[in-house]
Amino acid sequence: MIIFLVGFMGCGKSTKAKQLANRLNCSVIDLDAEIVAQEGKSIADYFAENGEAAFRELESKTLKTFPYPETCVIATGGGLPCFFDNMEWMNKHGKTVYLHMTPPQLVSRLHNREKRPLLKGMDDEQLLAFIEMKLAERDHYYNQAQIIVNAFDLDAEVLEKQIKGN
Ligand code: S3P
Repeated sequence: MIIFLVGFMGCGKSTKAKQLANRLNCSVIDLDAEIVAQEGKSIADYFAENGEAAFRELESKTLKTFPYPETCVIATGGGLPCFFDNMEWMNKHGKTVYLHMTPPQLVSRLHNREKRPLLKGMDDEQLLAFIEMKLAERDHYYNQAQIIVNAFDLDAEVLEKQIKGN
């Protein structure tokens, strides 16, 4: 089984993917990290050099062509479910889990903003307004996940049970 973790930047996809893979004794794959390794540059540099549209093409292609092991947990980029037919593709090929957090919870967790091109230079107030606006656009996609969990203070054991119970 392939488990795709989706959700907004800062909701804990990478950390939870590692903890979950540990518990399930399977591989963990971070699609952003795969792009960084493949391109030999950070996501911020890729955005700066090629623009967001090129990045969205590349992340969709990476999602659909990655040689996934039979059982694995995948951390996806925050925008990935919201472009092309990516969400539909993930629902078809695995189990999708939305790690839901409220905008104030996300602000409290997004300290390192410089490595995220969409958040560069924002103070807390600007970030809150940005997240509220983006979530209004993105929730529709995230909510297509098969499992939706409250991700604030989420314990990996609880997450595992929620996934197995579905
Ligand atoms: C993005 C989220 C980032 C990364 C890129 C764009 C987004 O991933 O893919 O900076 O559009 O929300 P994380 O959610 O892992 O930060």
